[in-house]
Amino acid sequence: MDFATATFKNFENIEGHDIYARATVFGNFLQYMKDNGHMNYRLQNFSGCGPEMCVKTSIHQNGFDYVSFVSNDYLGFTQHPKVKAAAIQGITDFGTGAGASPLIGGHFSYHEILEEKIAAFFKRGKDSSVIYTTGYTANSATLMSLLQKEDLAIVDMAVHASIYEGCILTNTKTFLHNHMESLERILKAARTQYRTKLVIVDGVYSQDGDIAPLREIISLARQYGAYVMVDDAHGTGVLGATGRGALEQLDLLHEVDLISGTFSKTFANIGGYVIANPDLINFLKFQSRQQIFSATSTPAAAGIIKAIELIDEEPQWQLKLWENINYFKKGLLDIGIDTGTTGSAIIPVKIGDPHKTGDAGKLLLKAGIYTNPILYPAVAKKDARIRMSLMATHTREQLDKALSAFEFVNQKLDIAGQSA
Ligand SMILES: Cc1ncc(COP(=O)(O)O)c(C=O)c1O
Repeated sequence: MDFATATFKNFENIEGHDIYARATVFGNFLQYMKDNGHMNYRLQNFSGCGPEMCVKTSIHQNGFDYVSFVSNDYLGFTQHPKVKAAAIQGITDFGTGAGASPLIGGHFSYHEILEEKIAAFFKRGKDSSVIYTTGYTANSATLMSLLQKEDLAIVDMAVHASIYEGCILTNTKTFLHNHMESLERILKAARTQYRTKLVIVDGVYSQDGDIAPLREIISLARQYGAYVMVDDAHGTGVLGATGRGALEQLDLLHEVDLISGTFSKTFANIGGYVIANPDLINFLKFQSRQQIFSATSTPAAAGIIKAIELIDEEPQWQLKLWENINYFKKGLLDIGIDTGTTGSAIIPVKIGDPHKTGDAGKLLLKAGIYTNPILYPAVAKKDARIRMSLMATHTREQLDKALSAFEFVNQKLDIAGQSA
Protein backbone atom coordinates (compact mmCIF):
# COMPACT_ATOMS: atom_id res chain seq x y z
CA MET A 1 0.00 0.00 0.00
CA ASP A 2 1.27 3.49 -0.88
CA PHE A 3 1.23 5.32 2.44
CA ALA A 4 1.77 8.69 0.72
CA THR A 5 -1.70 8.57 -0.81
CA ALA A 6 -3.44 6.41 1.79
CA THR A 7 -6.06 7.59 4.31
CA PHE A 8 -7.64 5.83 7.31
CA LYS A 9 -10.29 4.43 4.97
CA ASN A 10 -7.74 2.19 3.23
CA PHE A 11 -7.32 0.19 6.43
CA GLU A 12 -10.98 -0.46 7.23
CA ASN A 13 -10.80 -3.81 5.51
CA ILE A 14 -7.71 -5.31 3.88
CA GLU A 15 -8.12 -8.51 1.91
CA GLY A 16 -6.66 -11.57 3.59
CA HIS A 17 -5.73 -9.67 6.78
CA ASP A 18 -7.24 -10.80 10.06
CA ILE A 19 -7.78 -8.21 12.79
CA TYR A 20 -4.21 -8.40 14.13
CA ALA A 21 -2.59 -8.24 10.68
CA ARG A 22 -4.76 -5.29 9.73
CA ALA A 23 -3.94 -3.50 12.99
CA THR A 24 -0.21 -4.04 12.34
CA VAL A 25 -0.36 -2.51 8.85
CA PHE A 26 -2.41 0.36 10.22
CA GLY A 27 0.12 0.87 13.02
CA ASN A 28 2.86 1.16 10.38
CA PHE A 29 0.79 3.81 8.61
CA LEU A 30 0.35 5.79 11.85
CA GLN A 31 4.12 5.64 12.36
CA TYR A 32 4.62 6.91 8.79
CA MET A 33 2.31 9.83 9.56
CA LYS A 34 4.22 10.61 12.74
CA ASP A 35 7.55 10.45 10.91
CA ASN A 36 6.22 12.98 8.39
CA GLY A 37 4.79 15.31 11.04
CA HIS A 38 1.25 14.62 9.78
CA MET A 39 -0.12 13.20 13.01
CA ASN A 40 -2.66 15.91 13.77
CA TYR A 41 -5.19 13.41 15.06
CA ARG A 42 -6.10 12.37 18.59
CA LEU A 43 -3.76 14.97 20.03
CA GLN A 44 -3.90 15.37 23.76
CA ASN A 45 -5.28 18.67 25.09
CA PHE A 46 -4.31 19.86 28.55
CA SER A 47 -6.80 22.73 28.71
CA GLY A 48 -10.54 23.10 28.01
CA CYS A 49 -11.87 23.61 24.52
CA GLY A 50 -11.76 27.17 23.29
CA PRO A 51 -10.00 29.55 20.89
CA GLU A 52 -6.69 28.78 22.61
CA MET A 53 -5.81 25.26 23.70
CA CYS A 54 -2.79 23.73 25.36
CA VAL A 55 -1.96 20.77 23.11
CA LYS A 56 0.73 18.07 23.20
CA THR A 57 2.24 17.78 19.71
CA SER A 58 5.38 16.25 18.24
CA ILE A 59 6.93 19.73 18.42
CA HIS A 60 5.79 20.42 22.01
CA GLN A 61 5.77 17.24 24.07
CA ASN A 62 4.82 19.12 27.23
CA GLY A 63 2.05 21.08 25.60
CA PHE A 64 1.89 24.51 23.99
CA ASP A 65 -0.85 27.17 23.83
CA TYR A 66 -2.04 26.99 20.23
CA VAL A 67 -4.65 29.24 18.64
CA SER A 68 -7.25 26.58 18.00
CA PHE A 69 -9.90 26.11 15.33
CA VAL A 70 -10.92 22.55 16.15
CA SER A 71 -13.86 23.09 18.55
CA ASN A 72 -17.45 23.31 17.33
CA ASP A 73 -18.24 25.21 20.51
CA TYR A 74 -19.39 28.04 18.25
CA LEU A 75 -20.62 30.50 20.88
CA GLY A 76 -17.91 29.64 23.41
CA PHE A 77 -20.47 28.35 25.91
CA THR A 78 -18.28 25.48 27.20
CA GLN A 79 -16.43 28.14 29.19
CA HIS A 80 -19.43 30.37 30.00
CA PRO A 81 -19.63 30.82 33.81
CA LYS A 82 -23.44 30.41 33.85
CA VAL A 83 -23.32 27.19 31.82
CA LYS A 84 -20.58 25.78 34.07
CA ALA A 85 -22.50 26.78 37.21
CA ALA A 86 -25.67 25.06 35.93
CA ALA A 87 -23.74 21.87 35.13
CA ILE A 88 -22.10 21.90 38.58
CA GLN A 89 -25.51 22.45 40.21
CA GLY A 90 -26.85 19.46 38.25
CA ILE A 91 -24.07 17.29 39.66
CA THR A 92 -24.60 18.67 43.18
CA ASP A 93 -28.31 17.85 43.02
CA PHE A 94 -28.22 14.53 41.17
CA GLY A 95 -24.69 13.10 41.39
CA THR A 96 -22.50 12.17 38.45
CA GLY A 97 -24.41 9.55 36.47
CA ALA A 98 -27.89 8.58 35.35
CA GLY A 99 -27.44 4.90 36.17
CA ALA A 100 -29.73 3.36 33.56
CA SER A 101 -31.34 3.80 30.18
CA PRO A 102 -34.31 6.20 30.02
CA LEU A 103 -36.79 3.35 29.72
CA ILE A 104 -35.77 1.55 32.88
CA GLY A 105 -34.89 4.12 35.53
CA GLY A 106 -32.52 6.58 33.84
CA HIS A 107 -35.02 9.32 33.01
CA PHE A 108 -34.70 12.24 35.47
CA SER A 109 -36.39 15.60 35.91
CA TYR A 110 -33.45 17.41 34.25
CA HIS A 111 -33.97 15.20 31.17
CA GLU A 112 -37.67 16.03 31.13
CA ILE A 113 -36.94 19.78 31.42
CA LEU A 114 -34.32 19.49 28.69
CA GLU A 115 -36.79 17.75 26.36
CA GLU A 116 -39.36 20.46 26.98
CA LYS A 117 -36.79 23.25 26.57
CA ILE A 118 -35.32 22.04 23.30
CA ALA A 119 -38.76 21.38 21.80
CA ALA A 120 -39.93 24.88 22.82
CA PHE A 121 -36.69 26.37 21.43
CA PHE A 122 -37.73 25.44 17.90
CA LYS A 123 -41.14 27.10 18.34
CA ARG A 124 -43.03 24.36 16.51
CA GLY A 125 -46.23 24.52 18.54
CA LYS A 126 -47.32 21.07 19.67
CA ASP A 127 -44.15 19.20 18.63
CA SER A 128 -42.19 17.44 21.33
CA SER A 129 -38.68 16.03 21.62
CA VAL A 130 -36.66 13.06 22.73
CA ILE A 131 -33.05 13.39 23.80
CA TYR A 132 -30.22 10.95 23.18
CA THR A 133 -26.76 10.56 24.66
CA THR A 134 -25.06 11.79 21.48
CA GLY A 135 -26.04 13.60 18.30
CA TYR A 136 -24.77 10.52 16.48
CA THR A 137 -27.34 8.25 18.10
CA ALA A 138 -30.09 10.85 17.77
CA ASN A 139 -29.70 10.27 14.03
CA SER A 140 -28.71 6.63 13.86
CA ALA A 141 -31.09 5.22 16.50
CA THR A 142 -34.02 7.35 15.31
CA LEU A 143 -33.67 6.35 11.68
CA MET A 144 -33.09 2.71 12.57
CA SER A 145 -36.36 2.57 14.41
CA LEU A 146 -38.39 4.61 11.91
CA LEU A 147 -37.25 3.06 8.63
CA GLN A 148 -37.57 -0.65 7.87
CA LYS A 149 -37.09 -2.81 4.79
CA GLU A 150 -40.37 -1.65 3.25
CA ASP A 151 -39.25 2.00 3.40
CA LEU A 152 -36.85 4.30 1.57
CA ALA A 153 -34.31 6.81 2.84
CA ILE A 154 -33.30 9.42 0.27
CA VAL A 155 -30.14 11.14 1.43
CA ASP A 156 -27.83 13.85 0.18
CA MET A 157 -24.49 12.16 -0.45
CA ALA A 158 -22.76 14.56 1.98
CA VAL A 159 -24.91 13.81 5.05
CA HIS A 160 -23.22 12.91 8.29
CA ALA A 161 -22.01 9.34 8.92
CA SER A 162 -24.65 8.90 11.66
CA ILE A 163 -27.41 9.21 9.07
CA TYR A 164 -25.85 6.57 6.83
CA GLU A 165 -25.59 4.30 9.85
CA GLY A 166 -29.26 4.89 10.68
CA CYS A 167 -30.20 3.71 7.21
CA ILE A 168 -28.62 0.25 7.33
CA LEU A 169 -31.95 -1.50 7.94
CA THR A 170 -33.78 0.23 5.11
CA ASN A 171 -33.42 0.95 1.40
CA THR A 172 -31.19 3.94 0.74
CA LYS A 173 -30.72 6.11 -2.32
CA THR A 174 -28.26 8.98 -2.36
CA PHE A 175 -28.57 12.10 -4.48
CA LEU A 176 -25.74 14.36 -5.61
CA HIS A 177 -24.89 17.02 -3.07
CA ASN A 178 -27.46 19.86 -3.08
CA HIS A 179 -28.48 18.78 -6.59
CA MET A 180 -32.23 19.13 -7.03
CA GLU A 181 -32.51 17.32 -10.38
CA SER A 182 -30.73 14.34 -8.88
CA LEU A 183 -33.15 14.37 -5.93
CA GLU A 184 -36.16 14.69 -8.21
CA ARG A 185 -35.04 11.74 -10.35
CA ILE A 186 -35.01 9.50 -7.26
CA LEU A 187 -38.32 10.82 -5.93
CA LYS A 188 -39.98 10.31 -9.31
CA ALA A 189 -38.71 6.75 -9.68
CA ALA A 190 -39.84 5.88 -6.14
CA ARG A 191 -43.21 7.57 -6.48
CA THR A 192 -45.43 4.52 -6.31
CA GLN A 193 -43.14 2.32 -4.26
CA TYR A 194 -42.27 2.04 -0.57
CA ARG A 195 -44.39 2.61 2.50
CA THR A 196 -42.52 5.59 3.93
CA LYS A 197 -40.17 7.77 1.92
CA LEU A 198 -37.98 10.08 3.99
CA VAL A 199 -35.63 12.69 2.51
CA ILE A 200 -32.79 13.31 4.95
CA VAL A 201 -30.42 16.26 4.67
CA ASP A 202 -28.13 18.33 6.87
CA GLY A 203 -29.07 21.99 7.40
CA VAL A 204 -25.39 22.93 7.30
CA TYR A 205 -22.92 20.41 5.84
CA SER A 206 -20.11 19.62 8.21
CA GLN A 207 -17.18 19.69 5.77
CA ASP A 208 -18.01 22.49 3.29
CA GLY A 209 -20.13 24.51 5.75
CA ASP A 210 -22.69 25.13 2.99
CA ILE A 211 -26.43 25.28 3.55
CA ALA A 212 -28.96 22.89 2.00
CA PRO A 213 -31.50 24.42 -0.44
CA LEU A 214 -34.23 23.48 2.03
CA ARG A 215 -37.12 25.28 0.33
CA GLU A 216 -36.58 23.35 -2.91
CA ILE A 217 -36.01 20.07 -1.06
CA ILE A 218 -39.24 20.42 0.94
CA SER A 219 -41.23 21.37 -2.12
CA LEU A 220 -39.96 18.37 -4.12
CA ALA A 221 -40.57 16.00 -1.21
CA ARG A 222 -44.14 17.24 -0.84
CA GLN A 223 -44.73 16.92 -4.58
CA TYR A 224 -43.72 13.25 -4.54
CA GLY A 225 -45.21 12.22 -1.19
CA ALA A 226 -42.04 12.05 0.89
CA TYR A 227 -41.36 13.30 4.41
CA VAL A 228 -38.35 15.46 5.32
CA MET A 229 -35.82 15.28 8.15
CA VAL A 230 -33.14 17.96 8.69
CA ASP A 231 -30.07 17.46 10.89
CA ASP A 232 -29.01 20.99 11.78
CA ALA A 233 -26.12 20.12 14.09
CA HIS A 234 -23.95 22.95 12.72
CA GLY A 235 -26.66 25.53 11.99
CA THR A 236 -28.27 25.71 15.42
CA GLY A 237 -27.06 28.74 17.39
CA VAL A 238 -25.19 30.00 14.33
CA LEU A 239 -27.84 30.74 11.69
CA GLY A 240 -31.22 32.45 11.78
CA ALA A 241 -32.20 35.79 13.34
CA THR A 242 -32.56 34.16 16.78
CA GLY A 243 -30.15 31.23 16.37
CA ARG A 244 -32.73 28.57 15.49
CA GLY A 245 -30.60 27.51 12.56
CA ALA A 246 -30.85 26.99 8.81
CA LEU A 247 -34.61 26.41 8.93
CA GLU A 248 -35.18 29.73 10.71
CA GLN A 249 -32.89 31.52 8.26
CA LEU A 250 -35.10 30.29 5.40
CA ASP A 251 -38.37 30.73 7.35
CA LEU A 252 -39.11 27.00 7.18
CA LEU A 253 -39.15 25.96 10.83
CA HIS A 254 -42.68 24.59 10.52
CA GLU A 255 -42.26 22.89 7.17
CA VAL A 256 -40.28 19.75 7.96
CA ASP A 257 -41.33 16.53 9.68
CA LEU A 258 -38.29 15.94 11.87
CA ILE A 259 -35.43 18.11 13.09
CA SER A 260 -32.40 16.49 14.68
CA GLY A 261 -29.39 18.08 16.30
CA THR A 262 -26.67 17.82 18.86
CA PHE A 263 -25.85 19.30 22.26
CA SER A 264 -22.12 18.90 21.56
CA LYS A 265 -21.61 22.04 19.49
CA THR A 266 -23.42 25.32 20.28
CA PHE A 267 -24.96 23.82 23.43
CA ALA A 268 -21.52 23.04 24.85
CA ASN A 269 -22.08 19.58 26.30
CA ILE A 270 -22.84 16.17 24.82
CA GLY A 271 -26.11 14.65 23.63
CA GLY A 272 -28.56 14.88 20.79
CA TYR A 273 -32.24 15.47 20.17
CA VAL A 274 -35.04 14.88 17.72
CA ILE A 275 -38.04 17.21 17.40
CA ALA A 276 -41.23 15.97 15.76
CA ASN A 277 -44.93 15.32 16.14
CA PRO A 278 -45.72 13.93 19.66
CA ASP A 279 -46.85 10.54 18.34
CA LEU A 280 -43.57 10.00 16.51
CA ILE A 281 -41.58 11.15 19.54
CA ASN A 282 -43.53 8.86 21.83
CA PHE A 283 -42.84 5.97 19.48
CA LEU A 284 -39.11 6.75 19.59
CA LYS A 285 -39.06 6.98 23.39
CA PHE A 286 -40.18 3.36 23.61
CA GLN A 287 -38.89 1.83 20.37
CA SER A 288 -35.55 3.46 19.65
CA ARG A 289 -32.84 1.03 20.71
CA GLN A 290 -30.67 3.64 22.41
CA GLN A 291 -33.61 4.62 24.65
CA ILE A 292 -33.93 1.00 25.74
CA PHE A 293 -30.42 -0.41 25.86
CA SER A 294 -28.10 2.50 26.64
CA ALA A 295 -27.78 4.92 29.55
CA THR A 296 -28.72 8.53 29.11
CA SER A 297 -26.86 11.78 29.74
CA THR A 298 -25.36 12.67 33.09
CA PRO A 299 -26.67 15.42 35.40
CA ALA A 300 -24.07 17.78 33.88
CA ALA A 301 -26.70 18.01 31.12
CA ALA A 302 -28.32 20.66 33.32
CA GLY A 303 -25.73 22.98 31.73
CA ILE A 304 -27.44 22.47 28.36
CA ILE A 305 -30.66 23.93 29.75
CA LYS A 306 -28.76 27.13 30.59
CA ALA A 307 -27.02 27.17 27.20
CA ILE A 308 -30.41 27.03 25.45
CA GLU A 309 -31.62 30.00 27.54
CA LEU A 310 -28.45 31.97 26.81
CA ILE A 311 -29.14 31.95 23.06
CA ASP A 312 -32.04 34.33 23.79
CA GLU A 313 -30.59 36.04 26.86
CA GLU A 314 -27.19 36.87 25.29
CA PRO A 315 -27.62 37.29 21.53
CA GLN A 316 -24.30 39.15 21.41
CA TRP A 317 -22.43 35.85 21.07
CA GLN A 318 -24.06 35.01 17.76
CA LEU A 319 -23.32 38.55 16.51
CA LYS A 320 -19.69 38.28 17.61
CA LEU A 321 -19.38 34.90 15.89
CA TRP A 322 -20.55 36.43 12.61
CA GLU A 323 -18.12 39.37 12.96
CA ASN A 324 -15.35 36.78 13.31
CA ILE A 325 -16.57 34.65 10.39
CA ASN A 326 -16.74 37.65 8.05
CA TYR A 327 -13.39 39.02 9.18
CA PHE A 328 -11.59 35.69 8.81
CA LYS A 329 -13.10 34.80 5.43
CA LYS A 330 -12.18 38.23 4.06
CA GLY A 331 -8.66 37.87 5.46
CA LEU A 332 -8.23 34.54 3.69
CA LEU A 333 -9.66 35.94 0.46
CA ASP A 334 -7.19 38.86 0.65
CA ILE A 335 -4.33 36.35 0.53
CA GLY A 336 -5.97 34.55 -2.37
CA ILE A 337 -7.60 31.68 -0.46
CA ASP A 338 -11.23 31.05 -1.35
CA THR A 339 -13.37 29.33 1.27
CA GLY A 340 -15.91 28.04 -1.24
CA THR A 341 -19.61 27.85 -0.57
CA THR A 342 -19.59 28.02 3.22
CA GLY A 343 -22.42 30.00 4.78
CA SER A 344 -21.67 29.04 8.37
CA ALA A 345 -18.92 28.98 11.01
CA ILE A 346 -17.15 26.10 9.23
CA ILE A 347 -14.25 27.40 7.16
CA PRO A 348 -12.75 24.92 4.68
CA VAL A 349 -9.48 25.58 2.86
CA LYS A 350 -9.36 22.99 0.11
CA ILE A 351 -5.93 21.75 -0.86
CA GLY A 352 -6.73 18.56 -2.76
CA ASP A 353 -3.70 16.35 -2.34
CA PRO A 354 -3.76 14.47 1.01
CA HIS A 355 0.01 14.62 1.55
CA LYS A 356 0.14 18.36 0.87
CA THR A 357 -2.82 18.81 3.23
CA GLY A 358 -0.82 16.98 5.91
CA ASP A 359 2.13 19.29 5.19
CA ALA A 360 -0.12 22.33 5.53
CA GLY A 361 -1.39 21.05 8.90
CA LYS A 362 2.24 20.57 10.01
CA LEU A 363 3.30 24.08 8.96
CA LEU A 364 0.26 25.60 10.67
CA LEU A 365 1.12 23.76 13.89
CA LYS A 366 4.69 25.07 13.61
CA ALA A 367 3.22 28.57 13.40
CA GLY A 368 1.14 27.94 16.54
CA ILE A 369 -2.18 27.25 14.79
CA TYR A 370 -4.15 24.07 15.53
CA THR A 371 -6.51 22.97 12.74
CA ASN A 372 -7.97 19.74 11.38
CA PRO A 373 -6.60 18.30 8.12
CA ILE A 374 -9.57 16.39 6.68
CA LEU A 375 -9.07 13.53 4.24
CA TYR A 376 -11.12 10.84 2.47
CA PRO A 377 -13.61 9.38 3.40
CA ALA A 378 -14.81 12.44 5.36
CA VAL A 379 -14.50 14.28 2.03
CA ALA A 380 -14.00 13.18 -1.58
CA LYS A 381 -10.48 11.97 -2.47
CA LYS A 382 -9.68 15.09 -4.50
CA ASP A 383 -11.03 17.43 -1.81
CA ALA A 384 -8.61 17.05 1.12
CA ARG A 385 -8.63 20.24 3.12
CA ILE A 386 -7.82 22.13 6.28
CA ARG A 387 -11.10 22.58 8.13
CA MET A 388 -11.64 25.19 10.79
CA SER A 389 -14.48 26.07 13.12
CA LEU A 390 -14.74 29.71 14.15
CA MET A 391 -15.89 30.73 17.60
CA ALA A 392 -17.48 33.88 19.02
CA THR A 393 -14.61 34.02 21.51
CA HIS A 394 -11.72 34.13 19.02
CA THR A 395 -9.99 37.49 19.40
CA ARG A 396 -8.81 39.68 16.51
CA GLU A 397 -5.21 38.95 17.51
CA GLN A 398 -5.84 35.21 17.29
CA LEU A 399 -7.49 35.52 13.89
CA ASP A 400 -4.65 37.74 12.63
CA LYS A 401 -2.07 35.22 13.85
CA ALA A 402 -3.89 32.48 11.90
CA LEU A 403 -4.12 34.64 8.78
CA SER A 404 -0.35 35.33 8.90
CA ALA A 405 0.23 31.59 9.24
CA PHE A 406 -1.92 30.90 6.18
CA GLU A 407 0.00 33.53 4.21
CA PHE A 408 3.23 31.73 5.14
CA VAL A 409 1.80 28.27 4.27
CA ASN A 410 0.57 29.64 0.95
CA GLN A 411 4.05 30.94 0.12
CA LYS A 412 5.55 27.55 0.91
CA LEU A 413 2.94 25.24 -0.62
CA ASP A 414 0.88 27.38 -3.01
CA ILE A 415 -2.42 26.27 -1.51
CA ALA A 416 -4.36 29.22 -2.96
CA GLY A 417 -4.24 27.58 -6.38
CA GLN A 418 -6.35 24.66 -5.13
CA SER A 419 -8.79 26.52 -2.90
CA ALA A 420 -12.48 27.14 -3.72
C1 LIG B 1 -24.02 17.02 10.84
C2 LIG B 1 -23.72 16.26 12.08
N1 LIG B 1 -24.69 15.51 12.63
C3 LIG B 1 -24.47 14.79 13.74
C4 LIG B 1 -23.25 14.80 14.38
C5 LIG B 1 -23.03 13.95 15.60
O1 LIG B 1 -23.07 14.72 16.75
P1 LIG B 1 -22.30 14.29 18.08
O2 LIG B 1 -20.88 14.62 17.91
O3 LIG B 1 -22.99 15.10 19.12
O4 LIG B 1 -22.52 12.83 18.27
C6 LIG B 1 -22.24 15.58 13.86
C7 LIG B 1 -20.93 15.57 14.57
O5 LIG B 1 -19.94 15.95 14.30
C8 LIG B 1 -22.46 16.32 12.67
O6 LIG B 1 -21.49 17.04 12.13
